Amino acid sequence: MRSVGSLLALLLALPTGAAFAQRGGGGLGPNGNQGNTLAPLKSVAVPRPANLEQYVRDETALIALGKALFWDMQAGSDGTTACATCHFHAGADHRLQNQLASPHNGSYALSPNTTLKADDFPFRLLANPGNNNSAVLRDSRLVAGSAGVFRIDFRQVWEGSPNEDGETAPSNPFEVNGVRVRQVTGRNTPSVIDAVFNVRNFWDGRARDIFTGATPFGDSDLNWNAAIDGNSGLTSEPIRLDNASLASQAVGPPLNGVEMSYEGRSWAQMARKLLSLQPLARQKVAADDSVLGPYAMPDGLGLTISYPALIRAAFQPRYWESEAFDAQGFTQMQLNFSLYWGLAIQAYESTLVSGETRYDRFLAGDTGALTVLEQQGLAEFRGGGSQCTNCHNGPELTAASITNFRRRSQALNPALPDTLGFFRLGVSPIADDIGGADVDGFGNPLFPGAPANLAQGVFKTPGLRNVELTGPYFHNGGQATLEQVLLFYARRGDFPGDGNLGTGVPAINLGAADRTQVAAFLRALTDDRVKFERAPFDHPSLCIPVGHEEESPGILRSLGDTPGTPSLGADKWALIPESGREGNPVPLQTFEELLAGIGADGSRAHNLMQGCRP
Ligand code: HEC
Ligand code: HEC
Repeated sequence: MRSVGSLLALLLALPTGAAFAQRGGGGLGPNGNQGNTLAPLKSVAVPRPANLEQYVRDETALIALGKALFWDMQAGSDGTTACATCHFHAGADHRLQNQLASPHNGSYALSPNTTLKADDFPFRLLANPGNNNSAVLRDSRLVAGSAGVFRIDFRQVWEGSPNEDGETAPSNPFEVNGVRVRQVTGRNTPSVIDAVFNVRNFWDGRARDIFTGATPFGDSDLNWNAAIDGNSGLTSEPIRLDNASLASQAVGPPLNGVEMSYEGRSWAQMARKLLSLQPLARQKVAADDSVLGPYAMPDGLGLTISYPALIRAAFQPRYWESEAFDAQGFTQMQLNFSLYWGLAIQAYESTLVSGETRYDRFLAGDTGALTVLEQQGLAEFRGGGSQCTNCHNGPELTAASITNFRRRSQALNPALPDTLGFFRLGVSPIADDIGGADVDGFGNPLFPGAPANLAQGVFKTPGLRNVELTGPYFHNGGQATLEQVLLFYARRGDFPGDGNLGTGVPAINLGAADRTQVAAFLRALTDDRVKFERAPFDHPSLCIPVGHEEESPGILRSLGDTPGTPSLGADKWALIPESGREGNPVPLQTFEELLAGIGADGSRAHNLMQGCRP
């Protein structure tokens, strides 16, 4: 038997293999990527805006503000929806009920309030899962997204109350026999962990690397989005930061009428509400929370420090100290809330870096960190049979990372079309979701450097750390297990038509033994701090909606009718308990385990079995 040491030597020598010859001497792959340069995540500096100090004076306070905002249920118009509501589990979602974006898709109809079962996956079921030409037994074309808020038109906020005033609006298809259910996002929720390394965020890349203060769309947004003191009252100033895709992303959901907001709320209105509330007022914060511990209310709920105090500590006075009001009576702090929100949440998410996986330790020289099977999986992952490192490459395991992008733009003619590490895999037909060929909120193409036909159907290549914890997979959430994902690759995609396959995918050759090895390798990409929610992945408690109550099959219990308005379905709620810096005694449940009921006895965290009242 070969010793572990010589296997390592073999791995390090791998780029000489025939499969890598196509990449040429410089190591640049067909996508212009640094093909097989794999290295520990710690070898990459966490990206950071070059001019952050222009806006921020205390990064510690900034991170505390960001963590509080990210987890605060009071941020949503309904007083219960936080960013974390969809990103509570290894940075992703972990719910099963009322999670379908397209419950009535063509001939395949499910109730919006369906609880997904193991049998519902994969969404496209073939007679021979190894052959994408075999008989189609089911093509549900479902999308497993995340439940957000009810469809409600915004009226007003009240200071001191987390619940906003609004009017129920029609929300087909999100209703069951006349009772409304929470709306669901049109794509599956990716993890926020390691997202700081992405050159752009969202599956289609619409959260730009340049942050302009109020929308995800970077330089497309020509507005001057900061309010500052002028000669006669408040005036405006443009905002611009680089390496800030997470700030761009973070200002999307708060006003989004599906995710967090009643339709039509403004940033200043949201700020008027949130600045008047005790942070995390109905949530528990562990006394040893790695960030919020110093502000944890002893024996109580919420924080001892206010949002305005955290903002004053974190930001340069120029962006909050004015005593002037604008024409509608909003203060400077209210008007600049999207700036604080974006930069604070980005700073918090920038701490969510999972570079302590066994794979990272192995690459750093700890030869015992991976088992022989996992090392075989790594070799296969890097090999020509799998093609994985065509796209999942570099220390971040994604061609869509900032460092990969920089490397390419130095190496390639900048005029060459580049989709920035976004590729086609044939997960869904291009017509179902055009991905990167879309336009942004100002009508400009998401990938101006690439012809529309090149951007069609491309999606961001995810970095793969902690992937065992973040099912279901792909932008449509159509695969429940890593084995299903690998079978998908082995059959070279589900919808290969119209050129819907990226470089290398048609050449994939993954046998059963290869898949076993690669699956083992993918499970070695988990950081135990994520799996057990230890610092920096610890967090406040959270009460999340997990589907709607049924009185009898197909009949939802309604919250009670206001005459003339459609009724809303009563939510079921599950508790996500707080964790402190030492984390949980049991690991997070995987999606596969959730489907199988494994861990419902308490041997897994986040099994959604414990109720709560929001
Ligand atoms: C209702 C569920 C929901 C809520 C609430 C929500 N998200 Fe998301 N999040 C999603 C979905 C779905 C996507 C993918 C959407 C897409 O790509 O089109 C996403 C994408 C992201 C991404 C991009 C990750 C990547 O790899 O591309 C980040 C970061 C993120 N969300 C952070 C946040 C923050 C910060 C908030 C609060 C301001 C938030 N989310 C609120 C569901 C949600
Ligand atoms: C042509 C580029 C490309 C190749 C080759 C490729 N991937 Fe991917 N990978 C992607 C993209 C793009 C996505 C997201 C696709 C989508 O959702 O539409 C993805 C998604 C995934 C996911 C799901 C992650 C999640 O959070 O949903 C896993 C797991 C994965 N890839 C593993 C692999 C493995 C293992 C290989 C080799 C067998 C491989 N990939 C080969 C580009 C690629």
